[in-house]
Amino acid sequence: MSTTDTVRRPRTTTDFDEELIPRYSFVERVNHWFGALTYSYCLITGLAFWTPYLYWLAAIVGGGPTARFWHPWFGLFFTVSQFLMFVQWGGDMEMDHDDRVWADNIKAYINNEDDKLPPVGRFNWGQKIYFWAMVGSTILLLLSGFVLWYVEAVPWSFHILRYVAILIHASVALITIGLFLIHVYMSTLLEEGSFASMVYGTVTRAWAWTFHRKWYYQVTGKSRPNQ
Ligand code: HEM
Repeated sequence: MSTTDTVRRPRTTTDFDEELIPRYSFVERVNHWFGALTYSYCLITGLAFWTPYLYWLAAIVGGGPTARFWHPWFGLFFTVSQFLMFVQWGGDMEMDHDDRVWADNIKAYINNEDDKLPPVGRFNWGQKIYFWAMVGSTILLLLSGFVLWYVEAVPWSFHILRYVAILIHASVALITIGLFLIHVYMSTLLEEGSFASMVYGTVTRAWAWTFHRKWYYQVTGKSRPNQ
């Protein structure tokens, strides 16, 4: 047996700094990916219904009639995931004084002068805006979607409701598409380690300290890690 088999390397500062912090529980991650899947289905089928130029998208999910049948059901599944997200994260998404100061000084963020901004909690201002915009949009999509699902039930004397429902459903869907694209870009490419946190549930101490410093101190009670 060589000496390297028996002698243990001392724990270095770097090992300590790479200690992982739990960020998302298993249930939170499963629900998030369920939401991502159901939203993507509604996105593909909704775009297919929106314009003939994108009707070919329906072929990916089994053709037009199949897409028409499942679109409202996946809308309901998405609503369920949003409701669970609201229960899981609603408390952490409340705007506080630091968020308002952060938003008022967003120029510093754009200029890469993060030291001039207040420390960030579990979620930052942009994540909170995204969350609440998605919650509000889901409610509008659900209400207008029901009118379109049971459109024959709307009396002709009240047919203005059909036009209003179509307008709301399509325009709110377009807003969510914009938000969704920003969300996917920011959470996969902009902050290294974010995507892994939604897959494995953990982040490094350095990640937490860099992007969510107030939360880092809350959950670890430890000093700044070496980077
Ligand atoms: C395939 C599409 C999606 C990808 C790749 C994705 C990726 C991610 C990642 C990596 C995070 C962790 C961010 C962090 O903690 O720094 C996250 C968080 C989150 N995701 Fe998604 N997501 C997707 C779709 C969705 C959808 C459809 C919703 C529904 C509204 C959603 C809502 C959220 C929320 C509210 C958070 C927590 C706050 C935030 O980071 O914005 N995601 N997502």
